[in-house]
Amino acid sequence: MTGSLPSTPATLLHYRSSVFAPLALLAASQLDLFSALRHGPRSAARLAADIGAKPDKLSVLLHALVQAGLLEKDGDNFANTAESGHFLARGAPGFVGDWWKLDQDFWPAVMKTAKTLRTGQPQALHDCANMTETEMSDFFGGLHGFAISTGRFLGARPEFGGFANLVDVGGGSGGVPIAVCEAYPALRATIIELPRVVPIARATLAAAGLSQRIDVIEANIVEAPPPGRYDAAVMRALIQVMGRDEAGRAIANIRPALAPGGWLYILSHIVDDTRIAPATAVGFNLVFLNIYHAGEAYSEGEYRAWLAEAGFTEVTIAYTVVPGGMSLITARNPG
Ligand SMILES: C[S@@+](CC[C@H](N)C(=O)[O-])C[C@H]1O[C@@H](n2cnc3c(N)ncnc32)[C@H](O)[C@@H]1O
Repeated sequence: MTGSLPSTPATLLHYRSSVFAPLALLAASQLDLFSALRHGPRSAARLAADIGAKPDKLSVLLHALVQAGLLEKDGDNFANTAESGHFLARGAPGFVGDWWKLDQDFWPAVMKTAKTLRTGQPQALHDCANMTETEMSDFFGGLHGFAISTGRFLGARPEFGGFANLVDVGGGSGGVPIAVCEAYPALRATIIELPRVVPIARATLAAAGLSQRIDVIEANIVEAPPPGRYDAAVMRALIQVMGRDEAGRAIANIRPALAPGGWLYILSHIVDDTRIAPATAVGFNLVFLNIYHAGEAYSEGEYRAWLAEAGFTEVTIAYTVVPGGMSLITARNPG
């Protein structure tokens, strides 16, 4: 080491204090505080009554949220910022859904990283077969909002107007096909899911009034190509829950289900080949380490190799463009 020594552990101090803003955001979301402010500024006492919190204690959180740039304060009143009001308040046009139902599970999982590394066993294992109904409902409830936004994002691509049918592999609660089908009234869609998730998908589709246009098929994409022929296939947050062998097989098995010229859309946390960017994917790798035996934010190079092996062409990648921060890979079945 050359030169003078740093005078303070600035990076350490920065990270020690930066943990609090996300936790204040989580608490506010759990309390549905941004929704309570949707109709205008409120005092701490009025807000506490609205959300069922202790008024003297709530003021501490409100000031932390102002400090974090998530609320504004005017006199004794607190108000949403333009961003909080648009994205975090239930019923607002940009509402991103209950993302926090995932993060209240993911953040404590990351706190187990040292033990996971010492034992070699994920200390916050997500095993669909053994999750309680509440855990399943929180997991898919947490995914659903950004899945809907992702469906709108994909549906805005010009080629979607030419698709007659689409398959969402590992479609979960069906957020992507629901949003795409709402944008294209003639489009039909199919969700491929594992047995435990099929009833969750069916329930959400029924609530959205789309059971007639979106089918749910129980199938395992790692084992065989799914039934049917589709113009487009979507895999959102799917490959990253799998080990490397399974990931390669899932990508290989979707190609025979695509029509010649059909498109595959993979939406995942993906690291570039340096493995230190983008930051969101690098961070999510810590989550995956603790909740899956083998899931990972794989690298661009790994995705390109699986796609080439499966015979896909015209592969493109756009980092972190997907609502919620995932990256998008597109690839084509040449026929
Ligand atoms: C993280 S969730 C994502 C759900 C949905 N795509 C979304 O973005 O909201 C991963 C989903 O993939 C499904 N899945 C995992 N392995 C699968 C397989 N081999 N075949 C079909 N679906 C699978 C799971 O059941 C789960 O619903």
